[in-house]
Amino acid sequence: MPRRVAVIAGGRSSEHEISLASARSVADALAGAGFDVATIAIDRDGRWALGPARAELDRPKGEALALLPDRSVAETLGSVEVVFPVLHGPHGEDGTVQGLLELAGVPYVGAGVVASALCMDKDLFKSVLRDHGIPVTRNITLRAGDATANPFGYPVFVKPARLGSSVGISKAHDEAELTAAVALAFEHDEKVLVEEFVPGMEVELGVLGNRDPVASPPGEIVVANNEWYDYEAKYAEGEMDLVVPARISPEQTAHAQELAVRTFVATECEGMARVDMFVRDDGEVLVNELNTIPGFTATSVYAKLFAASGVTYPQLLERLIELALERHERRRGLRY
Ligand SMILES: Nc1ncnc2c1ncn2[C@@H]1O[C@H](COP(=O)(O)OP(=O)(O)OP(=O)(O)O)[C@@H](O)[C@H]1O
Ligand SMILES: [Mg+2]
Repeated sequence: MPRRVAVIAGGRSSEHEISLASARSVADALAGAGFDVATIAIDRDGRWALGPARAELDRPKGEALALLPDRSVAETLGSVEVVFPVLHGPHGEDGTVQGLLELAGVPYVGAGVVASALCMDKDLFKSVLRDHGIPVTRNITLRAGDATANPFGYPVFVKPARLGSSVGISKAHDEAELTAAVALAFEHDEKVLVEEFVPGMEVELGVLGNRDPVASPPGEIVVANNEWYDYEAKYAEGEMDLVVPARISPEQTAHAQELAVRTFVATECEGMARVDMFVRDDGEVLVNELNTIPGFTATSVYAKLFAASGVTYPQLLERLIELALERHERRRGLRY
């Protein structure tokens, strides 16, 4: 097992802070498991800084990063044995950083370039799933300049195509709210989804593996005070309860697990993913979205889902590193 790991964290997206929290957990657990950990922090302006262990992650807000010439980032990437990108959203979870790591020729944890970009884009993601016969929530897609439309009635969900943590997402209850919701979503992306409202239970499943992935038990998201699983419900203390396993029938559980694995395979994910679904009041299971780099603290949903099947957080990290190396080895033999 290689021992030199670089954790990349922060980044330019609105999920910067979430990424730092995940990366602190990952770096601590890897160090605890005997890995030699370097961190690469990307600030909000996209500047990269290097540091040992957690130094760059704990830098006080506003304090300048120890900037290094681009070349030293490349050198560090070249000197570690595996990279663990713990970045959420655009410029990190969307294939851009993965592309850089491919160019650097270094093994890295998680989905590759295409799967990352595909799953970041809720519109393209659903096209691929529909092509594989996997049921998804219905939507229409608006591009900048398009007239606002809503064939679904109210309420309806409005989302930027490529973001996460519920940033820029609204539940619109009438036409006035729809107009405001579309304007807000367009502040975050050039492409916006208007999506039918799905009444029912929200469940999330973890998937782990490369060619032969396994799904965790489904976890049920129970939101305490908010109307839906918005940013506050996701990150404010005590606003969300994860019930594992979800209170659905054994048949629905097996079906959700099968859909999670099929979604992972159809989108050509590798390593890890968290697949978010709805179990409708009428029993139908629909895939909502897939996150290739889900929140990754030891108490995040992904870790809790696997903990429920007996996989500890350090074991999860070691497995992900193994999977990164396995892919790298497998692809090294290709001729192109
Ligand atoms: N079609 C829908 N019907 C009902 N609720 C929805 C629908 N779409 C989204 N939601 C609610 O909004 C939340 C956020 O939506 P979604 O998971 O698509 O966004 P995200 O920002 O990519 O989330 P994540 O933080 O998981 O990346 C969902 O967890 C759910 O509570
Ligand atoms: Mg989600």
